[in-house]
Amino acid sequence: MDAIRICGGNTLCGEVSIQGSKNGTLPLLAASVLVKGKTVLRNCPEITDVDHMLKLLEYVGCKITRNRRTVEIDASYIRRTDFPSEHAVVMRSSIMLLGAMLGRMGEISTYYPGGCVIGERPIDMHMGALSQMGVSFTETESGLRAVSTGLHGGLVKLDFPSVGATENVILAAVLAKGETVVEGCAKEPEIVELCNFLIQAGAKITGAGESIIRIVGVESLKEICYRIMPDRIVAGTYLLAAVMTRGIVVLNDAPVSQMQELFRILQQMGADIALADQWVCLNGEHAGKAVPNIKTSVYPGFPTDLQSAFMAAFTVAKGCSIIEETIFESRFKIVSELSKMGADVNIIGNRAMICGVDSLTGCPVNAMELRGGAALVLAGLAASGTTIVENKHFIDRGYEDICRDLGALGANIRYV
Ligand code: EPZ
Repeated sequence: MDAIRICGGNTLCGEVSIQGSKNGTLPLLAASVLVKGKTVLRNCPEITDVDHMLKLLEYVGCKITRNRRTVEIDASYIRRTDFPSEHAVVMRSSIMLLGAMLGRMGEISTYYPGGCVIGERPIDMHMGALSQMGVSFTETESGLRAVSTGLHGGLVKLDFPSVGATENVILAAVLAKGETVVEGCAKEPEIVELCNFLIQAGAKITGAGESIIRIVGVESLKEICYRIMPDRIVAGTYLLAAVMTRGIVVLNDAPVSQMQELFRILQQMGADIALADQWVCLNGEHAGKAVPNIKTSVYPGFPTDLQSAFMAAFTVAKGCSIIEETIFESRFKIVSELSKMGADVNIIGNRAMICGVDSLTGCPVNAMELRGGAALVLAGLAASGTTIVENKHFIDRGYEDICRDLGALGANIRYV
């Protein structure tokens, strides 16, 4: 079975440790092909997107050793430059292999990436930026072939600070000839994580976390052991679980410095938050207020990956909240499911108005993508009766074990 069953109504209380970051890990796994030797990643989350990425690396010749959250990738020998559709089309991050394989092998044949269906998600910016570095692309029957007879630096301008395109240019530039100056970069913590990893492996990069990043190509990278940062979206999800059940939750190993905008909105909702270096305590006893206007935005703004979870929280807040989604065109998919549970949500264009109801009622609902799926689990925690969230495989893409974590906090939740 592929579902999660939640009997709602429990007030969550307790401590949970935050897993390694999905969107931090996937680019590092791609980057491992740039190292002619071993890369060891610690705190690597045990999620299915990581499983798929490891399968892709194995297919081209990397030797993978995995012991729970420690993964070793030996990329001493890469045997091939094509990737199987089976693992490439199921996630967006397979596109990260573009920059990395071009840097290592000068060519790649792959498929258009898949991933959560939350909008069009084209790859024009990735291709445009890499073209400026000497890459030519041809469409194949089922995908894409990219070839470079010599990657070179230069000025690369991104029209929008795309996370993935920024990562791809960085990956391609690390072993390219000369200096690459990238303007209009994304500033997300996942970009900084990728740069920190590459710098530790010997790359020359400055400006990570700013809009201009400079990369001076080096001859080779050295073997590396790196601990992956905690996941800011998983951390946010569990804080909202406390808010929705009026509980008190402590997060250990939380990426506190990356969550400032989130804390601001949670406080607007009435939550009490205490912070230390990698530690958060949220008391949600009085956290039932609506928030009149929030807008998803690039970092350090409010993250689109938590938009659905906040929507779920607003369904039981006092008053009406408005969320404006500015990053992805189709990220309001959970509205139909929340409505089945009795939520009052209206969509006009890229805005959702959510007017809080006294309570949600549990029922069967369908997860349609990762973050929306997690948000439905949150709704189930606050609902009366039993909620069955179908298609838990979407949630497994990014959450190691949502039942383990929420169960440890006192939720009545299990896989069925
Ligand atoms: C990353 O996706 C994350 N995925 C997403 O997390 C996250 O929502 C997103 O960044 C924004 O923060 C990974 O890191 C694996 P973008 P990415 O390129 O890189 C448009 C999750 O739930 N665009 O910054 O794909 C695009 O359509 C996931 O964990 C183009 O038009 O995001 C979107 O509207 C979902 N052309 C916007 O830019 C391009 O070539 C932002 O996309 C590239 C992007």
